[in-house]
Amino acid sequence: MCGIVGYCGDEQAAPILLRGLERLEYRGYDSAGLCVETDGKLVTIKASGKLKNLAALTNDGKAINGVCGIGHTRWATHGIPTDTNAHPHLSDGERIAVVHNGIIENFRELRAFLENRGVTFRSDTDTEAAAQLIDYYYDGNLIGAVQKAVSQLEGSYALGIICRDFPDTLIAVKKSSPLIVAHTGGGSAGYASFLASDVTAILKYTRDMTYLEDGDMAVLTRRGIKFYDAYGQQIEKTVTRIDWDADAAQKGGYAHFMLKEIYEQPRVIRDTISSRINGMTVDLSDAGITPDYFDSFDEIKILACGTAYYAGVAGKYWLEQLARIPTEVIVASEFRYADPIIGKRTLAVILSQSGETADSHEALREAKRLGAKSLGIINVRGSAITRECDNTLYINAGPEIAVASTKAYTALLAGLYLLAAAAGQKRGAISPERLSAIIGELESLPDKLEYSLKTCAEAAQYAASQYFNHSSVFYIGRNLDYAAALEAAHKLKEISYIHAETYAGGELKHGTISLIEPGTLIVAPAAYEPLTAKLRSNIDEVKARGAEILCVTQEHMAENLKSVSDYMITIPDCDATISPFLTAVPLQLFAYYAALMRGENIDQPRNLAKVVTVE
Ligand code: M6R
Repeated sequence: MCGIVGYCGDEQAAPILLRGLERLEYRGYDSAGLCVETDGKLVTIKASGKLKNLAALTNDGKAINGVCGIGHTRWATHGIPTDTNAHPHLSDGERIAVVHNGIIENFRELRAFLENRGVTFRSDTDTEAAAQLIDYYYDGNLIGAVQKAVSQLEGSYALGIICRDFPDTLIAVKKSSPLIVAHTGGGSAGYASFLASDVTAILKYTRDMTYLEDGDMAVLTRRGIKFYDAYGQQIEKTVTRIDWDADAAQKGGYAHFMLKEIYEQPRVIRDTISSRINGMTVDLSDAGITPDYFDSFDEIKILACGTAYYAGVAGKYWLEQLARIPTEVIVASEFRYADPIIGKRTLAVILSQSGETADSHEALREAKRLGAKSLGIINVRGSAITRECDNTLYINAGPEIAVASTKAYTALLAGLYLLAAAAGQKRGAISPERLSAIIGELESLPDKLEYSLKTCAEAAQYAASQYFNHSSVFYIGRNLDYAAALEAAHKLKEISYIHAETYAGGELKHGTISLIEPGTLIVAPAAYEPLTAKLRSNIDEVKARGAEILCVTQEHMAENLKSVSDYMITIPDCDATISPFLTAVPLQLFAYYAALMRGENIDQPRNLAKVVTVE
């Protein structure tokens, strides 16, 4: 989704803004622009399409002088992706320039109000209303004008603002959309202040960042940053040290971030699990989860979107099977408006890689409003959702850059599995013997993932070469294989644009089987051993109608499924409950290679954004 960078320091701003925007490309965008104060003017350059167009227009930024500016990558919401609709947006008279993430819901009313007072608008965007409104209130006091303007904005916004009259000042203000600021007091980056929508944009310069809260305003100059609350009172803010380094956000020799992130999974799962296994117990005290935590609720609602939601489907099976806690998994955007029946004996578990997804964030707020306790299982430290959850279990996946989530998916699975095991242990739902077997399985999981990556890649690539030209694929599974199939189909759709749909194995014969014809591809993760015989019957049903079968199963079960499979990929033998981690790997690779063979833009698929900060 849109990305913001701002810089004010000793160096030429435009090249730094462009480098920062490059780091935000992964979020998805369709146009870009920057604005720098130069000799008392706001010089603005914008270009639709990729960032290279903007770089070409500005000679990589070198053609624009000035040491203070703002840049933006836009993912169109209001107005088609044109140069004019790209940010930054300037006020009439070009005194104020604004970059914006989010949606200003009352922009039509604001626009009418301003047009009635003679203001001329140039774009179709909601953002321009913010720039014009700040200018409307401007009387020489920039902070006052911004405060008056934002008090009238409805919706969500992260704004970076510069004013021709204050050539060395940036203003940052936000509501329901992330914004961070940082200052480097000397050192290799010199004296400079930065603002960004995402840490990766400025990680190269500093790891010490301050997250703005809703209503906060930051005034940035090269000398430092001052913070104000919504009432204009100066406040102190804490600095958060980001433990990712800049290299973690590089491709490291892989062709795509997605591939790199698939191969990082053994390490990520080790990092998520190892410090939380203590002898023969699961210890989640780093998230403030002590044994009595599990006495404080009777039911769980898992709230999430996209891949995180599909991780939640596996989580539901685990929490019910291992801990006997009634659990429901609900798409966050539906939960918000469903008038849900929950209360103080409910634990709302919010799953999110970014910790910034607007629908998940609002679902959390709704759950809290109704009295529920909240637990975030989140990747990005200090993100908006973590700041509002009662407790957060970090999944430690490191920066995930590819839009299609892979390592954060399996790390979310690990967080959920640990939660279920810890709850099962406390509630006596699993015997000590079973618990020690589960812990043994978790401890061996990173090695099994490593082994799978070595042994499955070729088979996944070969299967992709046979089917990448298909226009439609069905995925089937039962229980944890169903959960795995949901996410595997999501992955294929996102990056290859092949239509893919998942059905519970037993559900096909209730309608969808009418779509099966000779040559239809059915992908079946079949590794959840208690139900593979049943799934095998469903595979037989479609096979009898001419479907081709790509089956992913455990080594010791392969013989039994061989006769019905056109292609088979085997994963190491494992406890059935662990199987979704292992079936994920070949199916991620299958999606990756199918997209590669179709020549698609794997890391930045069309129409998608990494962080979805709008409803
Ligand atoms: O950051 P989140 O985990 O909250 O994101 C939720 C979804 O937007 C995300 O999982 C999306 O489905 C990805 N493109 C998955 O690959």
